[in-house]
Amino acid sequence: MDITILGIESSCDDTSAAVLRNTTLLSNVIASQAVHQKYGGVIPELASRAHQQNIIPVVDTALKEAGITIDKVDAIAFTRGPGLLGSLLVGVSFAKGLSIANNIPLVEVNHLQGHILSHFVDMPDKELPHPSFPFLCLLVSGGHTQIVRVDSPSKMEIIGTTIDDAAGEAFDKCAKVMGLPYPGGPIIDRLAKEGDSKAFKFAKPHVEGEFDYSFSGLKTSFLYTLRDAVKENPNFIEENKADLCASLQHTIVDILLNKLIKASKATGIKDIAIAGGVSANSGLRNGILEAGKRRGWRTFLPELKFTTDNAAMIAVAGYYRYMAGELSSLDVSPVARIQDL
Ligand code: KG4
Ligand code: ZN
Repeated sequence: MDITILGIESSCDDTSAAVLRNTTLLSNVIASQAVHQKYGGVIPELASRAHQQNIIPVVDTALKEAGITIDKVDAIAFTRGPGLLGSLLVGVSFAKGLSIANNIPLVEVNHLQGHILSHFVDMPDKELPHPSFPFLCLLVSGGHTQIVRVDSPSKMEIIGTTIDDAAGEAFDKCAKVMGLPYPGGPIIDRLAKEGDSKAFKFAKPHVEGEFDYSFSGLKTSFLYTLRDAVKENPNFIEENKADLCASLQHTIVDILLNKLIKASKATGIKDIAIAGGVSANSGLRNGILEAGKRRGWRTFLPELKFTTDNAAMIAVAGYYRYMAGELSSLDVSPVARIQDL
């Protein structure tokens, strides 16, 4: 029997709704919030308010684009966390209201599991490649950097994590230092294409945990390099922007790959996926492909539209939970941190 899932995502600054028939995508609507750009980062209060404005039209459009009405939906999957509490509250409350009004079961989804399971979404006209279990997923977003061992859609173990900043944060904070707008990751990616990745050297971390990451040292080293150079030449950043971006990106990708390669060696797992906002980065995508070729990996790069926050990944994670009978009750409430999930 076919199962229709409505997914709702509101954990950060994108309001998204998607409809899946089993694992096939029927619609995926995303309203991005431009309001944060002028502040150089996401302002939680403004994000909650924008979700409140966007959520009804976004869900409505997702249902219409899928060519269905709400009574055809078998379950409503929503992001319970981690994320900004005020943002999550909008999605969770909306999902509950829709559930009560239409007598449709609710399924809570962990946002990070959603990113990982985005590799199992299919398109109506083509089946996308899926990793086999167990696989390793490098999850790299604005808030998280983890190596996850994935044994099934419900059994996942974080085997490595960042002890300070996330990879996306490193991109965004260094971009801010260069005077680039938020989010800086995609801009650095674009500028890096015209630069020399060997032009500058930045500090690489020595982290105790075998598969753990750290990015705060790199951020500081980047900041000091720029500060000293600007004292000598006030136009330094402008004159060296592309080289700075290329060198920074190269360093971040190197740090990410180094521990991932270790994790693959230690576990013997050679199906390797990446997920999360930073998995859109062209340097990381090329780096993984290259590293994989030399090591006999099967590498899985998500379609670009599934890298940053979207509800398709929430719906597919919800599909697996629904099939396993894992429904949520109406007293479910959002959680900001992963430890609480
Ligand atoms: O997964 P995501 O949309 O939201 C979180 O759950 O955090 O990730 C957002 C992050 C931001 O830090 C953004 O700068 C980064 O992903 N990002 C990129 C690229 N596209 C998005 N970083 C580097 N290169 C990109 N092409
Ligand atoms: Zn995310």
